[in-house]
Amino acid sequence: MHSSLKIGHRGALGHVSENTMESIKKALEFGVDGIEIDVHTCASGELVVFHDFTLDRMTNGVGEVSKYSLLELKELKVDGKFSIPTLVEVLDFIDKKCLLNIELKGKNTAKEACRLIEWYIANKNWTYKNFIVSSFQTHELEHVFKTDKNIPLAVLTKASMSEAIEFAQSIDAKIIHPNFALLTTENMRFAKSEGFSVNTWTVNDVKTIERMKDYGVDGIISDFPNRL
Ligand code: G3P
Ligand code: CA
Repeated sequence: MHSSLKIGHRGALGHVSENTMESIKKALEFGVDGIEIDVHTCASGELVVFHDFTLDRMTNGVGEVSKYSLLELKELKVDGKFSIPTLVEVLDFIDKKCLLNIELKGKNTAKEACRLIEWYIANKNWTYKNFIVSSFQTHELEHVFKTDKNIPLAVLTKASMSEAIEFAQSIDAKIIHPNFALLTTENMRFAKSEGFSVNTWTVNDVKTIERMKDYGVDGIISDFPNRL
């Protein structure tokens, strides 16, 4: 059986509220190889770890995440009890215990993500191999590529493997992050022949996990990383 990296989705979303420190802690307890999180830029400039563009679904706040300062966001509760972490807090907590996949979800997130990655490499003994920066947003990925060509980039897609591969080649990204429903034996073989690693999401049921392993994916992003 092919062995694939075990990557916790938004921490361990199937077990503890997504993108919280507690969810990340849970993923680490499961012995993951990596953790995927989403980031947005807030009004005071910091990167905060949060999935949605608006606060309404996950917190007692309303409106766009990007309109609030960090101080204001820290007043809110995620699912009634957790706080919204910053990317810095997550970096300090993970401290290289596993790979960190930072999904640039919000606009204008690339610049600060690059700055932090470079700072943790220069000052905290992280290496480029400890990171994957992924995004659906071509603009953010292009920004990272222009800023620092050593940062491992992954192109996210839920639409087309071939388009993702074509764009990845234009920014020298070596990794594709497709939704699992897109994957076939053929496009997987093509991605590998072009030299790509493939990490697929969000794979939660055991049968699909096995099918993805049979395809030979390099990593699986799951809400239930304990099932991987
Ligand atoms: O990075 C994989 C996956 O998280 C992308 O979709 O909506 O869960 O951020 P989403
Ligand atoms: Ca994500």
